Amino acid sequence: MAKIIDGRAIARTIREQVRDEVQSFRRHGRIPGLAVILVGKNPSSEVYVNMKAKACEETGIHSITDQLDSDISENELLDKIADYNQNPQFHGLLVQLPLPAHINEQKIIESIAPRKDVDCFHPYNVGKLMVGQSIFEPATPAGIIEILRQSKIDPSGKHVVILGRSNIVGKPLSMMLIQKRSGANAVVTVVHTGAEDITKYTLNADILVAAMGKAEIVKADMVKEGVVVIDVGVNRVESDNEKGYRLAGDVDFDDILPKAAAITPVPGGVGPMTIAMLLRNTMKAFRLQEKNIQKN
Ligand code: GUN
Repeated sequence: MAKIIDGRAIARTIREQVRDEVQSFRRHGRIPGLAVILVGKNPSSEVYVNMKAKACEETGIHSITDQLDSDISENELLDKIADYNQNPQFHGLLVQLPLPAHINEQKIIESIAPRKDVDCFHPYNVGKLMVGQSIFEPATPAGIIEILRQSKIDPSGKHVVILGRSNIVGKPLSMMLIQKRSGANAVVTVVHTGAEDITKYTLNADILVAAMGKAEIVKADMVKEGVVVIDVGVNRVESDNEKGYRLAGDVDFDDILPKAAAITPVPGGVGPMTIAMLLRNTMKAFRLQEKNIQKN
């Protein structure tokens, strides 16, 4: 039976470290800040943004959530971002994705000052990550690597199969895991919708990361005995509970549990780690910007 990895517990210890660090800066009158921009009323985005705000409040990071109408123009949004780029109260800045269709997402990402880009979505930061000189690391992939590290699962020399090639998870995680460094050094296969038969790849995984956003499609007969399963999926599945839905991962948890060596649950696995790593990135942005102020 697989060990169930408690992402909430790992995230809690990181949040406590961040809180202690924030307190020590606050004692000297220095307050780290994060600005979060949310455009429109996507229910999942609202949940994520609320979780980010709550985590900031709990750790003492000053945060605001700037909720903008879904019909805001691209230029108005660019002006907002330019203001936050200049505002010294906010060391981190992120725009929750997805954005409404009339706004060019890439243009928005590229307008965020790289030094404040705590999502690590700006091409400058993505490039630094790729060449092994990262300033920030994107939160979900960093959370996955931290889960493996704290669970004493060393990916070095292992075959990691990633399902999904998104800019947020699949692509950056593959880049991070192939780096020649501790906690990485894996052999990575990225599987995507172009594959005819994903089982051909999943059967060869020592570590399987499911991040394609399709509820419970990874089944026990698609993996080998002793696989480590990291489930990034957060899918709403119809249910007869009072909410009308439940959250399900990309992996059929109950089916795989007896066959895997370790598995992350949904909820309570990767999700809480994403928030914890965002807080870490905000502290990194804060420290870097404080250092530069002292230098100038
Ligand atoms: N949408 C889904 N995940 C993320 C994330 O990590 N950051 C932002 N900004 N938007 C998202």
